[in-house]
Amino acid sequence: MDFWAQKRIWIIGASSGIGEGLVKVLAENGAKLIISARNESKLIELKAAFPFAEIEVLILDVENHSSLPEKTDQAWQLFEGLDYVFLNAGMAVRDLVVDSRLDVERKIMDINFWGPVSITKVLLKKKNPDSKLHLVLTSSLSGKYGVPKLAAYAASKHAIQGYFDSLRVETFGSGLFIHIVIPGFIRTNITVAGLRGDGSTSGKMQNALAGGMDPEVCALGILRGLERGKEEFVVGGSERYTVPLNRFFPTLMKRLIRSNPLQRIKNIRKTLFGK
Ligand SMILES: NC(=O)c1ccc[n+]([C@@H]2O[C@H](COP(=O)([O-])OP(=O)(O)OC[C@H]3O[C@@H](n4cnc5c(N)ncnc54)[C@H](OP(=O)(O)O)[C@@H]3O)[C@@H](O)[C@H]2O)c1
Repeated sequence: MDFWAQKRIWIIGASSGIGEGLVKVLAENGAKLIISARNESKLIELKAAFPFAEIEVLILDVENHSSLPEKTDQAWQLFEGLDYVFLNAGMAVRDLVVDSRLDVERKIMDINFWGPVSITKVLLKKKNPDSKLHLVLTSSLSGKYGVPKLAAYAASKHAIQGYFDSLRVETFGSGLFIHIVIPGFIRTNITVAGLRGDGSTSGKMQNALAGGMDPEVCALGILRGLERGKEEFVVGGSERYTVPLNRFFPTLMKRLIRSNPLQRIKNIRKTLFGK
């Protein structure tokens, strides 16, 4: 993967799951990394695991929007510019709409949508017209269709899709490249660290994720897609077929979702692959 050697890369949401997987693969492939999240000790531990790699730790909270211009400025200065920025930090809330507090739903939008937008606005001003900059957004299958108990999370990911699809068109030919990654079921802490509608931490891993793809395998899939210059792509197991299914057969897809999609996907997987 020579492609990534010496590339200046900022990974936001690097302390766990998919972001951590990206750090591991990119560090081993000679990239210059800035790793960001709130959990300082985890980031320092991650940096120490790759003593041969060029890694800078930059602590930030994407929910604290007023701090993001300065943080983005610092990230830009560290390697005198950036080639790839992974806007990957995310949080989930899982509950019925009727049981979800508005402030909890707003928090999800603040982290998953307004965080990446705030950082992007600063980056757009910093980018030299002759240079290239790749923004990599982590969306979700629920950025493509609605899912029960994930309304606010799905809204934040739909918002990412709409905003960054628009920005891509607006800036075509300027050297800014927008990539939207849609992970399927990846075995990470997203549901463990996620919230219930009342704001309490869930602490539980969702079954679909427990049986999902390893985050490092997901990271490899993401990097391959980016090497090929893909604008939008899904990385995951058989659940990735729900995207074309929804696109071409939306009525059927809605019917499937109403009748417990996760169980159905599991049943289909069992029938097709015996697991
Ligand atoms: N796992 C899946 O199946 C799946 C599927 C579709 C999409 N995704 C998306 O993939 C992305 C990565 O999630 P993951 O699955 O790898 O989950 P994860 O293991 O929980 O990782 C989430 C990352 O986001 C960071 N983060 C959360 N809130 C933050 C904040 N306020 N400020 C800064 N960083 C923050 C966390 O770091 P700190 O806690 O240290 O701040 C952590 O590094 C998310 O955008 C998620 O929505 C995941």
